[in-house]
Amino acid sequence: MISLNIEKTLGFVSKETIAAFEPRVKDAQEKLEKGTGKGNDFLGWLHLPSSITQAQLNDIKETAKVMRDNCEVVVVAGIGGSYLGARAVIEALSNSFTWLQDKKTAPTIIYAGHNISEDYLFEMTEFLKDKKFGVINISKSGTTTETALAFRLLKKQCEDQRGKEMAKKVIVAVTDAAKGAARITADQEGYKSYIIPDNVGGRFSVLTPVGLLPIAIAGFDIEQLIAGAVAMEKTCGIDTPFAENPAAIYVATRNALYESGKKIEILVNFNPKLHYVNEWWKQLYGESEGKEHKGIFPAAVDFSTDLHSMGQWIQEGERTIFETVISVDKVNHKLEVPSDEANLDGLNYLAGKRVDEVNKMAELGTQLAHVDGGVPNIRIVIPSLDEKSIGELLYFFEIACGLSGYVLGVNPFDQPGVEAYKKNMFALLNKPGFEEESKAIQAKL
Ligand code: PA5
Repeated sequence: MISLNIEKTLGFVSKETIAAFEPRVKDAQEKLEKGTGKGNDFLGWLHLPSSITQAQLNDIKETAKVMRDNCEVVVVAGIGGSYLGARAVIEALSNSFTWLQDKKTAPTIIYAGHNISEDYLFEMTEFLKDKKFGVINISKSGTTTETALAFRLLKKQCEDQRGKEMAKKVIVAVTDAAKGAARITADQEGYKSYIIPDNVGGRFSVLTPVGLLPIAIAGFDIEQLIAGAVAMEKTCGIDTPFAENPAAIYVATRNALYESGKKIEILVNFNPKLHYVNEWWKQLYGESEGKEHKGIFPAAVDFSTDLHSMGQWIQEGERTIFETVISVDKVNHKLEVPSDEANLDGLNYLAGKRVDEVNKMAELGTQLAHVDGGVPNIRIVIPSLDEKSIGELLYFFEIACGLSGYVLGVNPFDQPGVEAYKKNMFALLNKPGFEEESKAIQAKL
């Protein structure tokens, strides 16, 4: 099970200050549990792990099999919460060089609909030209421009390349039960489709078909992922005493640091496979907490890579930051540093050591240096990169995010701020229905 260590924050905020958050965290827990807080129509994720049925998982696995049997490549089309969870899990569990391997055991998963880059989309269509590919169109609203635009291209290419009948088989929609263009298209074309429950917002949807279907297609064990999340749901439940509840302690610590002036939280990993866990976490916390001119700014780095760039800032820049390190206890492979008679590189002092031991010393050395430099350090240890641990981690961050938003006093489940750019973009593109906005924005240019 994952564990949390806040010892290296105690030189910055006292144990008593953190403990004093107990009533606020308790209040947040009650709001979540009783559904009495802001955004209470979006709490479907709270007991999602323990309420997913075997029949639902089997259905996802069956669809995954159809895609695996018929596709060399599967394009996950989605943005924000509609793609980051799947990508986080798939990249955490995948071989780093799967891309380059000739013999593949699962379709290659690629992503679209998360940008509007003409070059990206052109290059994607070129890449897919000679591939048997399928598409998962993921959009809760079913109207998100980035995703809809990519899907329009992908649908046409898939039908042209593979024929209408096969396209129907290898295009799946994950969207609202009734609303939105993605639902209308899926129903009219007869695609297999999954419903994103009304009460689960995008960034809390990784444990619905939004995340589970791509993860199953990529060949990972969604039952173990859910088992991890279920275990964490229990550990972080309202009945667990404050001091034993890792989510409660994380929430109390990060908010205590925030109130002491540490406005930026940097999520750190020492394993490049966790890069997209960082991205998922940034989206989860950024979109949930950054409101009413408050909220911890969620940043992220990959170490030791970024020690050679952001490391300088973290060590000696403005002291408004704290770090939360995700440490992986056991690696999945064994590799020792070889001995070399000539020792031209001077590395013989490492000969015989596991590479992970070197990495762990980089981790410890960095922690000590950063704490000495004025950066509080929270440490989350996960046993290994496997489905169960990742399931635990996802739910841990979700529940902590809901609680933390309430402790901060905002609605963690809405995102009014993301509408502003859309309104301007639609006005600039003369979208029907935006005539007034078009006039107003033209006058500003
Ligand atoms: O967390 C959220 O609600 C957002 O990040 C959405 O997931 C994102 O904007 C995509 O929305 P949709 O699924 O409606 O296309």
